[in-house]
Amino acid sequence: MSLGPEDWWREAVVYQVYPRSFQDTNGDGIGDLEGVIQRLDYLNDGTERSLGIDAIWLSPTFPSPMADFGYDVSDYCGVHADFGTMETMDRLIGECHRRGIRLLLDWVPNHTSEEHPWFIESRSSRHNPRRDWYIWRDAKPDGSLPNNWKSVFGGPAWTLDETTGQYYLHSFLKEQPDLNWRNPEVEAAMLETLRFWFGRGIDGFRIDVMGMIVKHPELADNPLNGDWMPGDRERSTQLWQNNRNYPEVYDAVKRIRAVFDEYPGRMGVGEVFGTAEEVGRYYGDDDGNGLHLAFNFQFIHEAEHGLTAWDAGALRRIVNAAEASLPAEAQPCFALGNHDRPRFISRHNADARGPERARAAVILLLGLRNTPFIYYGEEIGMEDVDIPEDRLQDPARIRTIGRDPERTPMQWDASPGRGFSPAEPWLPFGDTSPNVADQDRDPGSLLSLYRRAIWLRRNTAALLRGAYRELPAPADVFAWARVLPGEPSVAVAVNTGPTPREVDLPGGGTVILATDQALEGPLKSGKLTLPPLAAAMVQAPKY
Ligand code: GLC
Repeated sequence: MSLGPEDWWREAVVYQVYPRSFQDTNGDGIGDLEGVIQRLDYLNDGTERSLGIDAIWLSPTFPSPMADFGYDVSDYCGVHADFGTMETMDRLIGECHRRGIRLLLDWVPNHTSEEHPWFIESRSSRHNPRRDWYIWRDAKPDGSLPNNWKSVFGGPAWTLDETTGQYYLHSFLKEQPDLNWRNPEVEAAMLETLRFWFGRGIDGFRIDVMGMIVKHPELADNPLNGDWMPGDRERSTQLWQNNRNYPEVYDAVKRIRAVFDEYPGRMGVGEVFGTAEEVGRYYGDDDGNGLHLAFNFQFIHEAEHGLTAWDAGALRRIVNAAEASLPAEAQPCFALGNHDRPRFISRHNADARGPERARAAVILLLGLRNTPFIYYGEEIGMEDVDIPEDRLQDPARIRTIGRDPERTPMQWDASPGRGFSPAEPWLPFGDTSPNVADQDRDPGSLLSLYRRAIWLRRNTAALLRGAYRELPAPADVFAWARVLPGEPSVAVAVNTGPTPREVDLPGGGTVILATDQALEGPLKSGKLTLPPLAAAMVQAPKY
C-alpha cells in the first residue's frame, strides 16, 4: 500500500484532551481552549523535549447544559462559553496547524441535549414538523413501556413526556434524547454539522456511540441475556441486538464517510463496541468506504470483567483476533484508556505493580500495528482519584460507577493548583505526585519513556508502517515483529508474568527501547532477557 498525505492518521499518535481538566486560564476551575493553546508546546514543539503527538482529540466543546459533560449537545456548530468562543476555537485550529498538529472534535450523532432547539420543537406537539426527528412511541396497550430497551446508564431507555403523552427514547440520560436517523432530514442536518467544522479546518472527528445510531425499524425488544449474573450491570440483562451494530448502521457509516471524503485528509474514528468482527465491519469493505478507524476496547473490557487483565495470552488473543477480522488495508486502534474508564494503573494495580505495567503498556501501544491514542495524564501515570461524595459530578454515577475519578485535572506541577488552576477545580486534584514538572527532569520517568517511544516510532519506518507478525515466545510473553520490506525490522516483547523470561531472537539485534533503560543495547547470544513485567523493542535487519 502506498501512503499519501491524506493517510497521516495511519502514522499518527493521538492525544485525548478532556477540555474541562486540561488547563484553566480564566480562573473558574474549569479547563478551557485557551489552556489547550498554552499547552501545545508540551504536546509537540517539534523537538524530542516534547511528547511528539500528531493529533489531538478534544472531548466535546459544544454548547451544552452539561448533563453529561458535553455529550449532550445543544448546538453542534458552536463553542460552550466555559471553554471559550468561536474565535478561540479558530485560534486553536490555527495554532495546532502551525505546529503540524491535527485537531479532531467529538461528534455526538446518536442523541442531542433535551435543550437542543430540534428537541424543543419535537416535544412541543405530536404534529410538529420535527416530531419525527426523535423516536416517540405510545405506551403499549397494557400501559407498559414501548419496548424493553435499557439505558446504557441503567433504568429504562424511555421517558414519558407529559405534554404529548408519548415516550421518547434515550439510550443514555433522559436529558439525551436519541435522534431518529431513519428520517433523511435528520441525517442531512447532522452531516451538515460535519461540513461546518471541516470548512473551519477541523481534521476529523471521534464519533460518539457510532454503533447505535440506526435501530431496528420496529424497535423490537432485545432478547434476554441468559448469561447475566446478579452483580452484573443492569444493562447486561439483555443482548443489545436491535439497537447496537444493527445491520443498517453500516450503511449510515458509508454515507458519513462520503462526507469525510468531500474534504481530503480528514479522519473519522468510531466509538464502537462488539466482537472483533462487528468492529471490523465499521471500516467498510476493502475499498475503505467505512470509518478510517474504529476503537477496539478489548484490552479495557477484559480488565473490567476481572479476566486476565494484563496477561500475555489475553493480549495475543485480542491482537490476533483484531488483525484477522479487519479488511486488508485497515489499521487497528487499540484503546488503553479514555474518559469513561478507570485509569490504566488503577485497573492493573491489585498487587501495587500497576506503575510497572504502565511502562510496559507504552511499548505495547507504540509497538503494535495501531494508531495509538493517549488519554491525557496517562503519560505521567495519573491514577483514579477518590472523589468525596459532595464533590461527585458525573450523573452516570447514579446507576453505574461514576467516571469522575479518571477525569480529574491534569497535574502539571506540585503546587497547590497543580499548575491547572488557581481556583477550586471542578473535580479535586490527586496527590502532588505524579506531575509533569517532576517527570520532565527525570530521564527514567514514565513521561520520558513516552517521549522516547513516540519519537522512536516517528523515526522508525517498521514501527510506522510494518506488517504485524506474531513471534514464538515462552509462557507469559507476547512477542511480535513489525516488518517492512527494505527496512530494519523491530521485534517487540512484553513479559506480563512474575518471573524473568528469555525470548529467542536468533537474528540477534539491538534493544532500542525498554521499560528499564539498563536493558537497552546490543543483545548477547540472540536472546532477550526480560525481567518480570518488563517489555522491550529490538531492532535487527530482519525478523
Ligand atoms: C460515549 C462517551 C460517554 C458519554 C456517552 C453518551 O460513550 O464516551 O462519555 O457519556 O457516549 O454520549
